[in-house]
Amino acid sequence: MKDSCNREIKHLRFSITSKCNFNCIYCDKEGFIPKTAELTVEEIVKLCRILGEILKITRIKFTGGEPLCRKEVIEIIKRVSDLGLYKDISLTTNGFFLAEKARQLKEAGLNRINVSLGSLHSATYERIYGSNALVRVLEGLKIAKEAGFDPIKINFVVLKEINDMELTDMIEFCGKNGFVLQLIELHQISKEVGGNGSFYNRHHVDLNPIINELEKKAIEIRTRGSMQNRKVFKIKTPKENIAVIETIIPSHEFCLGCTKLRVGCDGNLFGCLYRSDLGKNVKDALKNHYSMAKYEEIVRQVVESRKPYY
Ligand code: 5AD
Repeated sequence: MKDSCNREIKHLRFSITSKCNFNCIYCDKEGFIPKTAELTVEEIVKLCRILGEILKITRIKFTGGEPLCRKEVIEIIKRVSDLGLYKDISLTTNGFFLAEKARQLKEAGLNRINVSLGSLHSATYERIYGSNALVRVLEGLKIAKEAGFDPIKINFVVLKEINDMELTDMIEFCGKNGFVLQLIELHQISKEVGGNGSFYNRHHVDLNPIINELEKKAIEIRTRGSMQNRKVFKIKTPKENIAVIETIIPSHEFCLGCTKLRVGCDGNLFGCLYRSDLGKNVKDALKNHYSMAKYEEIVRQVVESRKPYY
């Protein structure tokens, strides 16, 4: 299904809980604050099936809050995987529960993970995430790698005077461990969640100069067309490791290359991180067993509400 800007919906970003055990200084709450109760496991699986069938998509990413805080997360992954609709099931996590859950997640059918890691120094880590869990998260990453997750992506939001000086070390760390580094430009959080303009002004780093540097050093460059036109660089590090670095910048190209539909943990279906207010809640629809035609109408309305916001 395409929106009015000819962008085809190719994947889902599905929040399964708004609960989180961290308190990140830049948290965007996935663009929304839930208004009603969480969908049940049954409802999540059903919605994944309905959306997979209507949109003919094969990629889904589970998020939170922190998705591993949802106690049925393994069951959710297993049952969504068993639908046989999704070839690529991924999850974004802060990594806190990875050491204990990575193996079960892999067995349940999860293909890929993204782990937030904004610093390799305990004090900075705690400042960013409000948790002193660095050692535990590093252990989780090791276990996830052993469990066979490939690729493992590291989400690094670049923050001025907090972690921007760690960039070279982080590139080396990822190169050494075979992790893909995602450099994320800080974005201003959506209207629905509420502004934190002063934090943004103090700590926002324009990634374009960093990208120019990477372009000079790269041994290979590519653009992920259906992923917000993200640029991917392969570089050789000072210690002769090969590092793969992806860059994510909110911009016109970011919006024009956006092919995702979002689902909030309360069943709010929405088309843009910055405009959850344009969403439609499908919890009642799921309870009242709507027809496929009715779901298709709702999905079409949401998809048509999508506009580039940058
Ligand atoms: N700017 C950029 N990235 C953000 N994330 C959360 N809030 C922001 C923000 N304001 C990222 C986190 C996490 C992912 C789910 O979203 O780093 O890895």
